[in-house]
Amino acid sequence: MAKYNIALLPGDGIGKDVMDAAQIVMDKLALDAEYFPGDIGWEFWCREGDPLPQRTIDLLKRTDCCLFGAITSKPKEEAEDELIPELKGKGLIYSSPIVRLRQEFNLRTNLRPCKAYKGNPLNYRDDIDLVVFRENTECLYVGIEFHPLPAELMQTLQNLHPKMKRFGQVDLEDIAVSLRIITRQACQNIIRDAFEYAVKYGYKTVTVVEKPNVIRETSGLMVREARKIAKEYPTIQLWEANIDAMCMWLVKNPQDYGVLVTSNMFGDIISDLCAQLVGGLGFSSSGNIGDHYAVFEPTHGSAPKYAGQYKVNPTAMLLTVKLMLDWLGETDSAHRLEKAVSEVIAEDRVKTYDMGGRNSSLEVAQAVAARL
Ligand code: IPM
Ligand code: MG
Repeated sequence: MAKYNIALLPGDGIGKDVMDAAQIVMDKLALDAEYFPGDIGWEFWCREGDPLPQRTIDLLKRTDCCLFGAITSKPKEEAEDELIPELKGKGLIYSSPIVRLRQEFNLRTNLRPCKAYKGNPLNYRDDIDLVVFRENTECLYVGIEFHPLPAELMQTLQNLHPKMKRFGQVDLEDIAVSLRIITRQACQNIIRDAFEYAVKYGYKTVTVVEKPNVIRETSGLMVREARKIAKEYPTIQLWEANIDAMCMWLVKNPQDYGVLVTSNMFGDIISDLCAQLVGGLGFSSSGNIGDHYAVFEPTHGSAPKYAGQYKVNPTAMLLTVKLMLDWLGETDSAHRLEKAVSEVIAEDRVKTYDMGGRNSSLEVAQAVAARL
């Protein structure tokens, strides 16, 4: 029996291209694993009305962790249009399978390292080493939304909050509400993860990125918990920044920052910004990590126009495999893989179109494998 059972969910578009690239390096590392491919994505939405079929959830439950490619999402009306005729008009609602996986498996921590590898022509600067800790199950992603607003909710909110009075005359059809829910436990978990990581990997600062001057309760809770937990880590400095200013500082002086910790929505936004500082989504890996399970995915989307062409940069996926190896405790393989990836970048010979090259995704993976 293999040491690890790993689910492979290529998903949509270039998800399969980068998964094939990942397989090349995992084979070369001779990871003692058995791989279990599973169904996820747009195709299953259109044919079955569910982009994350129950059989896939069951498959994941039988494995140690999951490597995920990419997913296509479309707005509500377009999603309905693409269903097979038998499924149309049944009130099926498309919801993002990756967001569901994060919640279903309580993958509460989203870890997104953004490091500038030496020699990458796409680096904004060469001395950037950021790691985003994004709370992964709450905030605006809880999916508790109302449109039209139910009359009871309008009434209750008006009874409870004086500021709701100004909406009293708005037609219930003409008002939408999305709830931003943040629990103390989730704040504590993500902040603690960020500090532990800073200690383990030698970062000097943890910056909590929120907006407590306006969103006093939810952002306020996060910042207050950060201040408390920071006291347990005297060797690490806690910095505080508002999300808007942080975007500016990251463009101005990204080299000054180390670990960033934030809530789900701000983390989504800022991790794209950080990714672009180190070459774009082709370089940005991520792990959705819970207490007992984890799903690893490159931060990029499914880039449908490049699907099946083996054109896109597989580096994000290869670095995602590195995160998975770290999580599995295969630290030596993880280190070797990162070193091989960084050497291929530094050598500047085998590269995909985004870096000005002409090589395929698989050739890049083979070049990395050759150095392992
Ligand atoms: C990400 C993506 C997802 C998110 C989408 C695809 C639902 O943007 O992983 O950053 O919003 O979390
Ligand atoms: Mg995103």
